[in-house]
Order: sequence, then structure tokens, then C-alpha cells
Amino acid sequence: MNKIISFLIPFLFFGCGKHSKTVEGEWIKGTETEQITIIENHFRGFDNAMLETGYRYQELFWAGQDENWEYADYQITKMQLAIKNGLERRPKRSKSAEYFLTYDLPKMQEVVKNRDLKNFNQAFQHLTISCNSCHALEKVPFFNIQIPEVRQSPVRK
Ligand code: HEC
Repeated sequence: MNKIISFLIPFLFFGCGKHSKTVEGEWIKGTETEQITIIENHFRGFDNAMLETGYRYQELFWAGQDENWEYADYQITKMQLAIKNGLERRPKRSKSAEYFLTYDLPKMQEVVKNRDLKNFNQAFQHLTISCNSCHALEKVPFFNIQIPEVRQSPVRK
């Protein structure tokens, strides 16, 4: 009996190996490594984080003008998350974003907590300068950010 079991063991292991096939999706195909590369490419790099940041920056501005402070706070939190995730994908950009993440956004958060429109507008100007400083540091100064003039958001107070 023991002999039979020791004879079968290698076959059992081999069998498992043979049948463990990488699961494929509709379009995410290939080996596991190839699949991870496909997924990474679709998550994109820093541009995706910036598209989101651009949107949230505008929403933040109008939230402030409406004195819709909960919405303003929400936008700051999500902007922070978008940039942090973006930096995880593109760590070389971290140094340029340091001031923005450790000073400007927390400052903005504090101002929003105090619910004062005048202070908000002042802090928003600083935030805008900080966006552009990073663009200069990262050699993309043609993304010149200016305080929004036209409102596109469907979110109103
Ligand atoms: C790391 C520092 C950094 C900070 C901070 C930063 N940006 Fe950017 N931004 C970039 C880089 C780098 C690009 C170019 C992205 C690329 O090509 O991958 C960019 C691109 C953009 C784009 C163009 C996105 C596109 O693909 O169309 C917008 C809009 C933008 N940023 C808005 C902002 C705003 C608004 C702020 C401030 C609230 C901000 N950025 C803060 C580095 C930064």
C-alpha cells in the first residue's frame, strides 16, 4: 500500500502543475506577467492622475464659492488620493509633489474646515501657484493652470 502511494505522489504533483492554467479575461490575455503589463498600461501613468486633479481642482473652486464646505473637503481628499496613487505609478515625480502634498493640500483642508470664503480664495491662489510650480519642475510648464472662470459642474448647492 505504502509503495503504491509513494509511486503516485510525483504524478499527483505533476498533475496539479499541468492543470493550473492562467485564467484569461476577454481581452486581458497571455501569461501572468503579460497580463499584469496590460493592466498597468490601462491604469496609465501620471496623466490620469492629473486629468482627475484638473477636474477636482475646478470642483473645489466652485464648492468654495458656493460655501459647500463638505463638497470642498471631499474634493481635497480625492485629489490627495489621485496624486498619491499617481506617484505610486510614477515615483520619480514624488519630489516635485512634496510641497503640494505636505503643505498646500493640508493648508487647504484647514481653511475649508474654518469655512471662510475670503481665506479660501487666498489659499486657492496659493494652491494654483503650487500646481504650476510642479509643472515647471516637471518640465511641463505649458499646463498653465489659472483660476476657473466658467463653471461646468452640474453640482450646485
Ligand atoms: C508632480 C507635481 C504635480 C503637481 C503637484 C500637479 N501637477 Fe499637473 N501635471 C504634472 C505632470 C508631470 C503632468 C504631465 C502628465 C504626463 O504627461 O504624464 C501634469 C499634467 C496636468 C494636466 C494635463 C492632464 C492631461 O493629460 O490633459 C492638468 C489639467 C494638470 N496637470 C492640472 C493640475 C492641477 C490643477 C494641479 C494642482 C491642483 C496640478 N496639476 C498639480 C505634475 C504635477
